[in-house]
Amino acid sequence: MFDSHAHLQDAKIKTDLDQVLKRARDAGVERITCIGYDLTSSEEALLIARKHQGVYATVGVHPHDAKTFNPEVRDKLKALARDPKVVAIGEIGLDYFRDLSPREKQKESFIEQILLAREIGKPIVIHDRDANQDVMDTIKKYKAGRNGGIMHCYSGSLPLALEAVKNGFYISFAGPLTYKNARKSHEVVVKIPMDRLLVETDCPYLTPEPLRGRINEPANVRYTVEKMAALRNQHPDEIGYLTERNACKVYRIKD
Ligand code: NI
Repeated sequence: MFDSHAHLQDAKIKTDLDQVLKRARDAGVERITCIGYDLTSSEEALLIARKHQGVYATVGVHPHDAKTFNPEVRDKLKALARDPKVVAIGEIGLDYFRDLSPREKQKESFIEQILLAREIGKPIVIHDRDANQDVMDTIKKYKAGRNGGIMHCYSGSLPLALEAVKNGFYISFAGPLTYKNARKSHEVVVKIPMDRLLVETDCPYLTPEPLRGRINEPANVRYTVEKMAALRNQHPDEIGYLTERNACKVYRIKD
């Protein structure tokens, strides 16, 4: 299995990282992408990726932290992004639910990082919360899927997922897929092409059932795999294998 989105640099995980990675391997999770959300966490993601086999990094500024984005940060991200262990720019996007940065600043930092990804030729990881239409308009206007990309922790509608797929994106599901109220996501899982599906934990957040309430970690991605398998009427091993292959493809991991 491949946990395509984890925050291993988070204090809740970092302090116990060797054990967390061991439990992941024991559960059959052989690859993990550690996702940056601001400059410091991006630097940390790369350090962790360099140190551990099967761990990769992304660098980028999250919409919550868009107010920290500036030309100097952009240049530093660009330098980090040239490292072969950096497999994408992210997570980037728009969050109109929490609005922790002004929307104009979110848009500016989203667009700047899309252009950065295009310049260095790497895919992007998108965070979208309550901003579906603006995210889709931006993706199309700036051809953001040119090098591929991921809609992380997808919670939108089926038509929008299909539109994202058409524009070069993969659709990734996290722990909420296992929650009872996830009927809309269940439909998306069944109806989008298997070769565009990914799984993730977004740990330490979004712990799947039956462990809800605990700190999440990559080993738990198997609960999302099992849920996806049940929905698609396929064997969990097959879903694990196929989603790992898809993640390797979008992140361009060859080994
Ligand atoms: Ni995340």
